[in-house]
Amino acid sequence: MNRHLISAADLSREDAVLILDTAAELASVADRPIKKLPTLRGRTVVNLFYEDSTRTRTSFEAAAKRLSADVINFSAKGSSVAKGESLKDTALTLEAMGSDAIVVRHPASGAPRRLADWVSGRVINAGDGTHEHPTQALLDAFTMRQRLFSPGGADFSHGGLPAPHSPGPRSPLGGPPGDQRGKGLDGVRVTIVGDILHSRVARSNVLLLDTLGAEVTVVAPPTLMPYAVGTWPCKAGYDLDAELRKTDVVMMLRVQQERMSAAFFPTVREYRRRYGLDTGRMALLPEHAIVMHPGPMNRGVEIAAEVADSPRSTIVAQVTNGVTVRMAVLYLMLGGAAEDAS
Ligand code: CP
Repeated sequence: MNRHLISAADLSREDAVLILDTAAELASVADRPIKKLPTLRGRTVVNLFYEDSTRTRTSFEAAAKRLSADVINFSAKGSSVAKGESLKDTALTLEAMGSDAIVVRHPASGAPRRLADWVSGRVINAGDGTHEHPTQALLDAFTMRQRLFSPGGADFSHGGLPAPHSPGPRSPLGGPPGDQRGKGLDGVRVTIVGDILHSRVARSNVLLLDTLGAEVTVVAPPTLMPYAVGTWPCKAGYDLDAELRKTDVVMMLRVQQERMSAAFFPTVREYRRRYGLDTGRMALLPEHAIVMHPGPMNRGVEIAAEVADSPRSTIVAQVTNGVTVRMAVLYLMLGGAAEDAS
């Protein structure tokens, strides 16, 4: 593992599978009456958040506490940032209080990379501008593996279709859920839909899913497709209905109005008609396919409420898995593996 986790590209396939496997082990902690391990006792994790968050901040806090680390939550709102204190001085102040790792969310793309040059502890990117959100991609990959590679899941050796002479969908690994361990997402077809241009979740997912062997297609209105998408390790498409018929996973993304300085589509109604996932569109998906969303959702815009609440939806499981995946990241970076000085 690298010293810091800034980009999904920092992870080799071995690193990523190790994190997913470690998370699978740690998931059992959530089922215990006392949800704690002593692993990171005496370590301090700082949550340094310059942007709003519900899921990421609370799940990093829960993850650190379940491993018995001390947690300092810092929000730029109400801090000396309002008096002009810089990111560097804020981070050095928090490090002087004994932090071992800084989990940082910042509206500026590249802020976590700069931070890593200034502090001696570990830096974990919790979302920087429109750049990356690597732990979101890890929890999404974990959820895909959990839902697709379990008994009754799809058989990807036949492109997601039942094998000839097969009684129906089955696990490609043929065993209990534990058999997912050690595996990537080879052959899994993932379609990521929506505001790709402004999405750090899309960037991190494309990189990590490619590392794990998945086949990714991004679908967006032309105005919300990045100019450089041709350099990404994925396909780009504009016809959502055509893609849905041949996907194992559809990941819907929020339209990020707060990052838009211009009109990228005529009306919300028009966007919903072309790129929203409603029950009619969901019916185009293969029987085994799942629906994901990183949250926060705009119900009735990119995803209908009936779809978000349907049995195909993994949205709540993604939140649960976010805690165990972040436990795995903290465990491997702070306490569980031999330190890599790189
Ligand atoms: N998915 C995600 O990053 O959610 P938050 O903005 O609530 O952390």
